[in-house]
Amino acid sequence: MTSLVYTFTSLILIMFVSSFRVIADTGGAGLQDNYYKSSCPPAEAVVKRVAVANFTDPSDPRGLRFAAGLLRLSFHDCHVDGCDASVLLDGPNAEKTAEVNTFLTGFEIIDKAKAELESVCPGVVSCADIIAYAARDAVIALNGTSFNVQGGRKDGIVSLASRAQAQLPSPDMTVTELTANFARKGLSMDQMVILSGSHTSAASHCPSIVRRLYNFNGTGQTDPSMPSALADRLKALCPKNTFNDTVIIPLDSLSFSFDTGYYRTLQIHEGVFTSDQSLYDDQRTQPLVNLLTNNALFQAQFGQAMRAMGRVGVKLTGEIRRDCRKVN
Ligand code: HEM
Ligand SMILES: *[C@@H]1O[C@H](CO)[C@@H](O)[C@H](O)[C@H]1NC(C)=O
Ligand SMILES: *[C@@H]1O[C@H](CO)[C@@H](O)[C@H](O)[C@H]1NC(C)=O
Ligand SMILES: *[C@@H]1O[C@H](CO)[C@@H](O)[C@H](O)[C@H]1NC(C)=O
Ligand SMILES: *[C@@H]1O[C@H](CO)[C@@H](O)[C@H](O)[C@H]1NC(C)=O
Repeated sequence: MTSLVYTFTSLILIMFVSSFRVIADTGGAGLQDNYYKSSCPPAEAVVKRVAVANFTDPSDPRGLRFAAGLLRLSFHDCHVDGCDASVLLDGPNAEKTAEVNTFLTGFEIIDKAKAELESVCPGVVSCADIIAYAARDAVIALNGTSFNVQGGRKDGIVSLASRAQAQLPSPDMTVTELTANFARKGLSMDQMVILSGSHTSAASHCPSIVRRLYNFNGTGQTDPSMPSALADRLKALCPKNTFNDTVIIPLDSLSFSFDTGYYRTLQIHEGVFTSDQSLYDDQRTQPLVNLLTNNALFQAQFGQAMRAMGRVGVKLTGEIRRDCRKVN
């Protein structure tokens, strides 16, 4: 009985969300599930083994923080000129040198997976696909629900910090700005809200929050909509002008695991970034935030949205890098 009621409620929720135009998985853009099934059967398993070995290494207390890092890496790859591993390229003006990418992590995990794959299937598995698989493995490691990841992306040959800076969203953005930013990648407002759920396992450093704390929208003041207890707590962690780059601030005040805690954090007005709290404060997105506090719904929608993000700007022709840090 209970489970029936639950199933029924989920069904209603799913119908309700469909009316929000949450996009079903409509196709491959030339990508495929199980892409390396015949060309390199162990591809996905190797990425997973290398990633999990990193997160669970007893010698490194940061552990699962690197899982969150890999998930962010996939967003920063796809959102800048498409999912083409341009974020991995080294160079004096490469994307990874951009200010928005200051705290990006996970490059060594991708290198290690690539090295292992080059030894078993040389020249077959792209760096862009490795990032996409690793992001899924990160979600699983954080106790989120798995989803299938398409493969077949080729690696890009251009990487420019200025392009990362121009295309990635800022934590100071409003819903209108975020929606326009995601629309430029073919992603909907709903997909933006669902993908922001990644912040359930995220942490920030002080530079990302000091504007909201000390100079909100250029006013020289704290964001007046931020509850004063939260403002006091964050100011203690990030004192004006003297912040410490090793301090990290969770974006989900309730739990680190990959769950609905992020959306519940927004409901209690504890969102850390303007770009997070606005999703609840804006009437256009608040209904979806409320729906996404249903865990089954959130997990299912998140997997779908990640598949859509994984198709942004993909290149179907081009090279498969031998070393993810340099073009061939
Ligand atoms: C909606 C617009 C978004 C904005 C404005 C935004 C901004 C940020 C910022 C400023 C940080 C903290 C950086 C730092 O100070 O260390 C962060 C962390 C993070 N973001 Fe986002 N983000 C957005 C969407 C996304 C999406 C779509 C994903 C993944 C699909 C994502 C995944 C993450 C993760 C996992 C972290 C934590 C990284 C870590 O703990 O090392 N974000 N984001
Ligand atoms: C895990 O990966 C991170 C990010 O690439 C790296 O800094 C760290 O040294 C790795 N930890 C282990 C134990 O390999
Ligand atoms: C900042 O100010 C501009 C112009 O006054 C306004 O359009 C924008 O919505 C404001 N941003 C926030 C986060 O309130
Ligand atoms: C920065 O913060 C870390 C961890 O919170 C602490 O161990 C370290 O002593 C701090 N450094 C300075 C210069 O305050
Ligand atoms: C994931 O679940 C396991 C088992 O319940 C738990 O021990 C672990 O702390 C959870 N991890 C996270 C990141 O929540």
